[in-house]
Amino acid sequence: MNKANKKFIVLNETDSTNNYAKQLILSNPEEGTVVMAQYQKSGKGQQGNSWESESGKNMLASIILYPSFLYAGDQFMISKIVSLAILDTLKSKIKNVSIKWPNDIYVHDKKIAGILIENTIKGNNLDSSILGIGLNLNQTIFMSNAPNPVSLQQITGEEYNIEKVADEVLTSFSRWYKKLKMGDHSEINATYYTNMFRGEMWSLYSKNDVRFEAKIIGIGEFGKLRLQKRDGSIEEYLFKEVEFVL
Ligand code: BTN
Repeated sequence: MNKANKKFIVLNETDSTNNYAKQLILSNPEEGTVVMAQYQKSGKGQQGNSWESESGKNMLASIILYPSFLYAGDQFMISKIVSLAILDTLKSKIKNVSIKWPNDIYVHDKKIAGILIENTIKGNNLDSSILGIGLNLNQTIFMSNAPNPVSLQQITGEEYNIEKVADEVLTSFSRWYKKLKMGDHSEINATYYTNMFRGEMWSLYSKNDVRFEAKIIGIGEFGKLRLQKRDGSIEEYLFKEVEFVL
């Protein structure tokens, strides 16, 4: 990704790169336009939470896409390929990286990155998509009440060049996006599944405070988590309908 390229916007400060991208989309920027910021005054997380990121320490980026080839029921494919791009980047540096369904990247049992995707739909397909990525690189103290944040520097003791890491994420993302455009869902699905946090093992989950043992067996339409219980029954859950018991 070339920074001199008009597809790359780097801001010192903004409220949220996703909000900035949402405004920008009104003027039809090129597909692949990336908005990055050193600092977000009100960085957004999932479920109306805020996203903590000390100024100049981490990767804060939003990618603008127009995936009109993608059926709305398949929109979670976008989340899968962003997760895989972050995973590729981190796996080249550290071990024990996994994708915690639906939007987090974990190292062991700690969260190193979060994804916030905002889509618009036209007819049966996606129209536009803003892919917000928050990847903790050099921050060493986290102040918010987020349960288990961690940064790359906390793991390796090294300091990272944010632009260089962002470039790696974006390069890998382009490769996965090409596969998605070509309709190559099977490789994406298989790679996602084998890298899932608690994939392929019996673990504890909870729904409405009732705990049960189950195994992830895949992802359904709209990104629902498909779990098989010990009694053999299979159920699908939307985000927040089920929790991992950590
Ligand atoms: C989460 O795990 O709750 C999602 C966090 C997403 C944070 C990123 S940082 C860049 C982009 N702009 C935002 O306001 N949020 C996303």
